[in-house]
Amino acid sequence: MRTDVIVVAAGSGQRAGDGIPKQFRPLGGRAVLRRTLEAFLGRPGIRHVLPVIHPDHAPWCAEAMAGLEGVLAPVAGGATRQASVRAGLEALADDPPDLVLIHDAARPFVSARLVADAIAAAERHGAAVPALVLVDTIKAVGEPGFVGAGPDRGGLRSVQTPQSFRYELIRAAHRARAGADDLTDDAAVAEAAGHRVATFPGDPANTKLTTPEDFVTAERHVALELA
Ligand code: CTP
Ligand code: MG
Repeated sequence: MRTDVIVVAAGSGQRAGDGIPKQFRPLGGRAVLRRTLEAFLGRPGIRHVLPVIHPDHAPWCAEAMAGLEGVLAPVAGGATRQASVRAGLEALADDPPDLVLIHDAARPFVSARLVADAIAAAERHGAAVPALVLVDTIKAVGEPGFVGAGPDRGGLRSVQTPQSFRYELIRAAHRARAGADDLTDDAAVAEAAGHRVATFPGDPANTKLTTPEDFVTAERHVALELA
């Protein structure tokens, strides 16, 4: 099965701060986006990796992907993550893959096991996401500053990327949702189109770099890798 990967990197990284958008910031001397692209390149079954970026970020992207083989020319994303994914899906339409993995550029620590599981789950179920059981007790907040009725943690999961799909399924789902760009992951887009989404085990190390503190932790993590 031909599998392509869409790496969405068109955000501005507001919460991480620090001038340059987080996906282009160096982490242990290599741009976050480069680490993320490299995590997919050469893995069994992966054909192409497509970055989706903001056009203003093209020079940073060119630097981040210099010399990497198997990376397609970046395409322009949109104002929301959902619009960026849609742009990536449409860009693959001329030479469509059978399966597509959709991944956040801001998650550079995706493992070979996750990539393999994502492919296998999409092949089997059509739509699948990596999911983690929650370690913390979750509370709803009612009156500001006070705890409301909390959901039962046992039935909840936190969901990561790569999320994996049959290409035609997720492209049609995204097309049907165009113009209502309010969904923050692709599983929700598939669900809105009436599909069942399977889960496979996520990886606690596959964190999304979101805040300045996440970069401090990530720098420590890569320093250990190098040691
Ligand atoms: N993303 C995108 N297009 C957008 C918004 C987000 O491709 N219009 C991408 C980001 O580049 C990131 C992923 O979606 O790799 C997850 O989004 P998030 O972590 O929220 O990144 P940002 O939107 O860039 O950060 P922030 O919300 O803090 O501004
Ligand atoms: Mg965002």
